[in-house]
Amino acid sequence: MTRVIAATKNKGKIREIQSILGRLGFEVVSQADANIDVDIEETGKTFEQNALIKARAVAMMCDDVVLADDSGLCVDALDGAPGVYSARYAGEDASDGDRMRKLLDEMKDVCGRKARFVCVVAMIFPDGREVTCEGEVLGEITHEPRGSAGFGYDPIFYSDELKKTFGEATEQEKDGVSHRAHALENLCRRLEGEQ
Ligand code: IMP
Repeated sequence: MTRVIAATKNKGKIREIQSILGRLGFEVVSQADANIDVDIEETGKTFEQNALIKARAVAMMCDDVVLADDSGLCVDALDGAPGVYSARYAGEDASDGDRMRKLLDEMKDVCGRKARFVCVVAMIFPDGREVTCEGEVLGEITHEPRGSAGFGYDPIFYSDELKKTFGEATEQEKDGVSHRAHALENLCRRLEGEQ
């Protein structure tokens, strides 16, 4: 089993990466459990640039395989915002609730509510090899939060496939269709193809 350090402090992401990559045969250890503490500035303009920035920062501090994820919510009516700025959308110290309220407020009079979650994962190997893969999931922004499962914008993201919000979905349901699952599955297919 390959040991992978997940380069994130986001507990929601760690749980999902552990569940999805565990299913695909990896042992996932969080950076906290690997005793790696590093503050990383996400200065990239794309999900891929930010995923690589995070993975490289942690890879410099260990000899393991490292995986980072950069993800966000892209709303058609807002020209793809909040996108790479999803985590900072309502300011640095804002909560998930603050971010959802700001987005719902901005979408108050908007009829077309199509949106997508996008995730790019970056894996770095001890020999320096870097692989990135993308995944997405389509849906719509609801008019109010529904459910309290998951994290981030999950309660206001209605999944076209699940016919409910990610906040109303079980962990297994979300992990079956999510942008993160698609990105990690694409990554595993790429790695298998390269063997
Ligand atoms: P970052 O990848 O650390 O820049 O953070 C991405 C941000 O996008 C998170 O803090 C969430 O607000 C949002 N986000 C990313 N993936 C998800 C998800 O699966 N559910 C809900 N929100 C998400």
